[in-house]
Amino acid sequence: MKIPVLLSKSVIKIRVKKLARQISRDYRNKKPVFIGILNGSFIFMADLIRNLSILVEINFIRLSSYKGKQSSGKILGFSCGREKDFKRILQGKDVIIVDDIIDTGLTTDFLARKLKKASPKSLKVCALLSKPEKRIIPLKIDYLGFSVPNKFVVGYGLDYKGNYRQLNYIGYIRK
Ligand code: IMP
Ligand code: MG
Repeated sequence: MKIPVLLSKSVIKIRVKKLARQISRDYRNKKPVFIGILNGSFIFMADLIRNLSILVEINFIRLSSYKGKQSSGKILGFSCGREKDFKRILQGKDVIIVDDIIDTGLTTDFLARKLKKASPKSLKVCALLSKPEKRIIPLKIDYLGFSVPNKFVVGYGLDYKGNYRQLNYIGYIRK
C-alpha cells in the first residue's frame, strides 16, 4: 500500500530543529525532564533531543486512547511505574510532555493532570502534530510542529493498527 505524503522528511527535519532551538532558548541554564508518550513519540523525541543544546532528562510513559482510526474517548492504558516514582522524578522539575499528535486532547490532558500531582516546577506540552478540528478538550500546546487536517496520519512514529511507524515522512491513510 502506497502512503501519500503529507509532510516530507525534509520539512519535518527543519521544523524539529526549529522547535529544539526554541526549547533550548526557553530552558537555557535549566535541565528539563522530557516525558514522551509511547509508542507514537519515540522518533520525534529522538530527533528533538538530538537537536537540543541544553541538558535534559528523558522518560517515557505508555498511554493511549485509540482504537483503529477513532478515539475511544477514554484512556486505555497507563503504565509508568508507581505515582511515588513519579514524584521522585518530577517534583520541583521543569517538565515537558512530548506527544506525537494531539487529537481530541484527552490523552495529553489526562497525563498533564496526573503529572501536576507530582508538583513539577513547570509543565509544558510539546507535540509534533495537532488536529484542531477533532479537539474535545481545549489544550494549550506550548511547542507545536504542525497543524494537520482531519485525516488519519501515519509515519515518523505514528501508526495505523501497528503499521507504518517506520516511514521517514508523515503520510495519511486514504479513506
Ligand atoms: P487524543 O487523546 O484523542 O488527543 O489522541 C492522542 C493519541 O491518539 C495520539 O497520541 C496518537 O497516538 C493517537 N492518534 C490520534 N490521531 C492519530 C492519527 O491521525 N494517526 C495516528 N495516531 C493518532
Ligand atoms: Mg500517542
